[in-house]
Amino acid sequence: MIHDVQAIAAEVIRKTGKDKPADAALREVLKQIKDLAPFDATEIAKTVFLYYRWHVWLREERGVENKMRHAIRLNQRFQANNASMPIAELRANAVPAWTAAEMDVTDEWLLSLQREPKLWLRAKRGTAESLAKTLFAAEVSPLLPEAILYRGEEDLFKTPEFHAGEFEIQDIASQIVGQLCAPQPGETWWDTCAGEGGKTLHISDLMQNKGMIWASDRAEWRLTKLKRRAGRAKVFNYRSAHWDGGAKLPTKTKFDGVLVDAPCSGIGTWQRNPQARWTTEPNDVRELSEIQKKLLTNVAPSVKPGGKLIFSVCTLSRAESTEVVENFNATQPDFEPLIWDSIKFEERKVENASQVMVWPQDLNGNGMFIAGWRRKKN
Ligand SMILES: C[S@@+](CC[C@H](N)C(=O)[O-])C[C@H]1O[C@@H](n2cnc3c(N)ncnc32)[C@H](O)[C@@H]1O
Repeated sequence: MIHDVQAIAAEVIRKTGKDKPADAALREVLKQIKDLAPFDATEIAKTVFLYYRWHVWLREERGVENKMRHAIRLNQRFQANNASMPIAELRANAVPAWTAAEMDVTDEWLLSLQREPKLWLRAKRGTAESLAKTLFAAEVSPLLPEAILYRGEEDLFKTPEFHAGEFEIQDIASQIVGQLCAPQPGETWWDTCAGEGGKTLHISDLMQNKGMIWASDRAEWRLTKLKRRAGRAKVFNYRSAHWDGGAKLPTKTKFDGVLVDAPCSGIGTWQRNPQARWTTEPNDVRELSEIQKKLLTNVAPSVKPGGKLIFSVCTLSRAESTEVVENFNATQPDFEPLIWDSIKFEERKVENASQVMVWPQDLNGNGMFIAGWRRKKN
């Protein structure tokens, strides 16, 4: 059956609003269409997201269809030649003005936000090369051993390799978090804000399924999804527990490593999730910064002497990154910064750092801030 991709995209856009994010509206509309080819579904999603990526440029156009056509034209011109878009215009239209007070709004970041996002997979340890060959249109990142850039059009969720748990869809910046945790087989870790378990599964793979991971979240339904994913990935060395983020912890265990992959404003995902640029508010940044400080304070006693504490957020604001680190340093004398020798990006190298800001333009992935501490031995 032939479907009118643009008409369906327009329907999704009409259903999208402050109470219904574009991805939720997309799922709702696509679920109702029978016989939708994966290629068409991808095209519909791309059209909806590029509409929001060019949102402010569409003010003068009337009606969703006209706006959408204009967004497609702007997008084609920009993808063919990024320089066709004057930087001043990007500064005025690509992100809300309040961002300038919260972070470094560089030309490189603004350009990266208008590019089409890349799809990254994480292969099981040691299998990326062979998996990339099987999937076609896939290449292994020269920077991270298990990260695969996928350029194909297949519905990956329907592939036998996905059902066999051979890979997860996981952004390259998220994979850096697991790599910097560097958990060892046999250790005991706590993934405090585990959600649906993207990082729990990665930590387990790095631990070769040996040792124990506690995975907690305040949303039980997310932990239920983690259970399903863990079954598929054949991850057996974890147990899940509800934790609301408060001072009452789910266990008295002292851990070799604790990861706080905290709730955040998500500014680092604005390329993939452009509608959020216009729904996120400066107050969100402030409130989430306070929550992040509390989460770190609450979990700090669970880290063994000599153990690691890792903080990560997929955002780029100072309040949710360096300010959180400064607060922790000022209030937790038992901890010292954990130093990572060298982290390589495509055009950047970070050496002897205990905190790192991964910009979307560094790796063609999400933006992410990561900081680490070690609990002093005495
Ligand atoms: C960035 S997401 C985690 C993503 C997950 N670690 C992954 O890699 O797939 C943050 C998680 O924190 C949880 N959360 C939000 N507020 C919380 C709180 N106050 N205490 C504990 N978890 C919280 C959310 O339910 C969400 O699952």
